[in-house]
Amino acid sequence: MVHKSSKRYESDYLIIGSGIAGLFAAIKASEFGSVIILTKKSVTDCNTMWAQGGIACVMDHDDNFENHVTDTIVAGAGLCNIKVAESIIQDAPSRINDLLDLGINFTRIRDIETGISNDKKNDYDLGKEGGHSRRRILHNGDITGKEIMRVLYNACKSNSNIEIFESFHAVDLISSKRLGFSGGNQCLGAYALNSVSNSVHTFQSKFVFLATGGAGKVYLYTSNPDVACGEGIAMAYRAYAKIANMEFFQFHPTCLFNPKAKAFLISEAVRGEGAILKIRDKDKFVDFMKKYHVLGSLAPRDIVARAIDKELKRTGQSCAYLDVTHHSESYLQKRFPNIFATCLSFGFNMSKDLLPVVPAAHYCCGGVHTDINGKTCVENLFAIGEVGCTGFHGANRLASNSLLEALVVSNNAVAQSKRMLNDRVKKETPKKSDDVIPDWSSGDAVDADELIVIYHNWDEIRRFMWDYVGIYRTTKRLQRAKTRIRNIRKEIEHFYWDFTITADLIELRNLASVAEMIIDSALARKDSIGLHYNIDSPLANESAELKEVVLQRPETTRVSS
Ligand code: SIN
Repeated sequence: MVHKSSKRYESDYLIIGSGIAGLFAAIKASEFGSVIILTKKSVTDCNTMWAQGGIACVMDHDDNFENHVTDTIVAGAGLCNIKVAESIIQDAPSRINDLLDLGINFTRIRDIETGISNDKKNDYDLGKEGGHSRRRILHNGDITGKEIMRVLYNACKSNSNIEIFESFHAVDLISSKRLGFSGGNQCLGAYALNSVSNSVHTFQSKFVFLATGGAGKVYLYTSNPDVACGEGIAMAYRAYAKIANMEFFQFHPTCLFNPKAKAFLISEAVRGEGAILKIRDKDKFVDFMKKYHVLGSLAPRDIVARAIDKELKRTGQSCAYLDVTHHSESYLQKRFPNIFATCLSFGFNMSKDLLPVVPAAHYCCGGVHTDINGKTCVENLFAIGEVGCTGFHGANRLASNSLLEALVVSNNAVAQSKRMLNDRVKKETPKKSDDVIPDWSSGDAVDADELIVIYHNWDEIRRFMWDYVGIYRTTKRLQRAKTRIRNIRKEIEHFYWDFTITADLIELRNLASVAEMIIDSALARKDSIGLHYNIDSPLANESAELKEVVLQRPETTRVSS
């Protein structure tokens, strides 16, 4: 499997990842130049495809931007960047208009209810989720992500300025610092493995947008699809970008508890429509959430996930239950068609049966440190969507704020790149550097003799991350995790340098790197706050220093990729 000869490609924009952030940025960027999108499987293999809840946006006269900002900051345990939150929330209506212009359908009240007055018929059906004080979530039933992907993908396919490379797995960013070029650290493009032809190609670009999504696969149980390995975060770290807030990994409280369901998500919107969490205590099903928070089953997600975990340990049960039986079958089928059908396929009729649920890893609130425009500290490198960390989510993301952030920051990033291009024209573009980007070299690498190393390490990481770095943490468990990841990382690095790369090896290397960043950040944070809950650390109070934990790769001498 030695790599075949490689090709070189050039574009104005190189976008790595094909979820909402990548495709929306591509559509916007195509107005200013040529765009290449790299995606490691097919375009629709992304987290966005699975988004059920929707997009939070102030739409109703009873709501306002201040309410949405306050809810975001309360959920984020005070660690949100307030200016960023205000800016994203105020920009939401314009970005929603962009989606409507592109042809995205959001559910209207008339699609769900009958006998409504004429003046309400065209209104959108606004959903509610944990931590939101108002109804403000635009959705398309419970397949909002699928609808978004349908429209954005079609728009990209029919755009002659956009070229999509499927089965192209980014291996590493090409950064001037790693190549030893003079001047500041600039991102010049990326190397990518075509996993069908098994060849590594060079993609050179004026701007690189990381839009690789989340990292849920770092945990044993996750609502994320298999592609979510945190690769953009790992690549950015290797290119000397700053990485922030990695200790804040969000666990979704309600994934279907069934060995065959692969942590299928039961949207928080179901609780928004009145579903109650219950625990089996002896022979009764008890509503327990009021004990933990005034908002009961609709408390912010970190609180609900911890409460479930605690109740499971107290009662010795293996799952909690979601009770939405107060709604009729016909209503549930209209409002949650996908969840209804999926639960039924596992033998649960939502209108009659309690749904067994457990928490699972869901969303990485940390990521590549950026400003409101997705700009990283590496020149020409942007991070947009879940891979980035603007500070919007703070210590815990408010439900349905992530698709919104992806839209706003992608749009801002393109606008920022345009400003940078204009500045360069004004300043007269400096003479092109004589430095030549080398082709990818496999060196003396040979094909791996024992693939079991990859699969064993993959399993081991995900298991100890779940057991030691999960919903409840202790310092001892974190230290145990650190010792293990250090050893595994060494083994993987040897493997990486000695053997020809494969898609599995790239994923494992990145997953291990992200796991280590989560552990290091969790060890560095001294208070328990939001999603980071260490039993040995005091709860952060108002006087606590609420600084971000930021990681950056130390300078090293190894410069090749
Ligand atoms: C959900 O539908 O519960 C997930 C929405 C989100 O994570 O924002």
